[in-house]
Amino acid sequence: MSWIQDKSRAGLERIREAQEKQVYPYFRAFESGGLHTTIDGKPVVNFSSNDYLGLTTHPKVKEASIEAVKKFSCGLGSSRVQATTTAHVELEERLAAWFGFEKCLVFTTGYQAMVGTIMALADRDTTLVLDSLSHACILDGTFAAAGTPRNGPEIRFFNHNSPRALKRVLGKREREKAMILLEGIYSLDGDEARIHDLLEVAEADEKAVVVCDDAHGTGTLGKGGRGIIEKYGLEGRIPVVISTFSKTFGGIGGILLGDAETVDFVKHQARSFLFSASLPVPVVAAASTILDMLEDHGEELVAELHDKSAYMRKGLTDLGFDLGLSDTHIMPVMCREERKALFTHVAMLESGVMMVPITYPAVKRGEERLRLNVTRGHSKEDIDQAVELLGVYGNAFFVLGGEELEPLPAAE
Ligand SMILES: Cc1ncc(COP(=O)(O)O)c(C=O)c1O
Repeated sequence: MSWIQDKSRAGLERIREAQEKQVYPYFRAFESGGLHTTIDGKPVVNFSSNDYLGLTTHPKVKEASIEAVKKFSCGLGSSRVQATTTAHVELEERLAAWFGFEKCLVFTTGYQAMVGTIMALADRDTTLVLDSLSHACILDGTFAAAGTPRNGPEIRFFNHNSPRALKRVLGKREREKAMILLEGIYSLDGDEARIHDLLEVAEADEKAVVVCDDAHGTGTLGKGGRGIIEKYGLEGRIPVVISTFSKTFGGIGGILLGDAETVDFVKHQARSFLFSASLPVPVVAAASTILDMLEDHGEELVAELHDKSAYMRKGLTDLGFDLGLSDTHIMPVMCREERKALFTHVAMLESGVMMVPITYPAVKRGEERLRLNVTRGHSKEDIDQAVELLGVYGNAFFVLGGEELEPLPAAE
């Protein structure tokens, strides 16, 4: 056996154990798309999806993708440098106008948009200043930039959402310029950035700028769903925003928003943009159709999401569930013990409701939880069913009440 196989076997130990005990929760194969699907032939309502406005399966969205397949097929055979279509260009122009920025660039994924933007903009005169709960795309962009030979930026972290910690870290940095990386909504905890307070600290520092990943705020924050900038009236105060098509916009793809020169610079520098194939046109067409809907009915769609989210929050808090830091439609059900999260997940799934467990090392020990996202696409009946089942299994596995589970009997 090579060291590669040795390493893989050793690294898979925990996973194999969970699979043997039949509590391995990931990579369950859906047999159709959407929030209502089947797994192994059994109907399942998915509460771990990021399809926040429930538009991914809208007939008009599907139709637009089908028409685009007929005209452009799926692949374009190269990167955007030599595989840009009128559909890409039109969508970029419309997105820039809708979000209220001068220019937009569409990447193939949101992950690539963030990695490429950080790598293009940060250099050895820059300190990258990260919230301690930053998404993997921010961490990876930061580590990739820092590894650039002879031109790597400094890296510093501040305590999650703490303006005081941000101020302290900015004061201690060793490089002249600072790029502060924030998220509109933090996806594991469902809490919004304390954006006013953090911006105040950033704006007091002449050489600091904020870059915001608003992947989870797009379509959910602000009356029309334009995100954290719209919600708090921050136009002109955040120069660069990154978002994605993989949540509200029904597909996959990254969005970079900024002034014309910054976006053009990143367009010609970002390796994750230049060296990866362009976004398939059927996906562009889906996003473009959802943008039509946001332009025409954004306020109603977002209001419906908020109604459903308030309904679920009330159901869960009435039962006594701990929703951690959440103040949005993303409501982690805190189990605070791995087995409680796994057992509750398995029982819920058997009963037709999927909430994926998030366990160590994705979160700290003691912060294990079920991922619960309410979307506009869930019906009140879906929500009632989920709350009722959570009540039953939350009691059975002591998620409610907080007692420890009995230790498992020792193996024979
Ligand atoms: C905060 C945040 N940023 C970026 C991404 C990446 O987006 P994409 O799925 O388009 O790569 C995600 C997706 O999980 C995310 O949650």
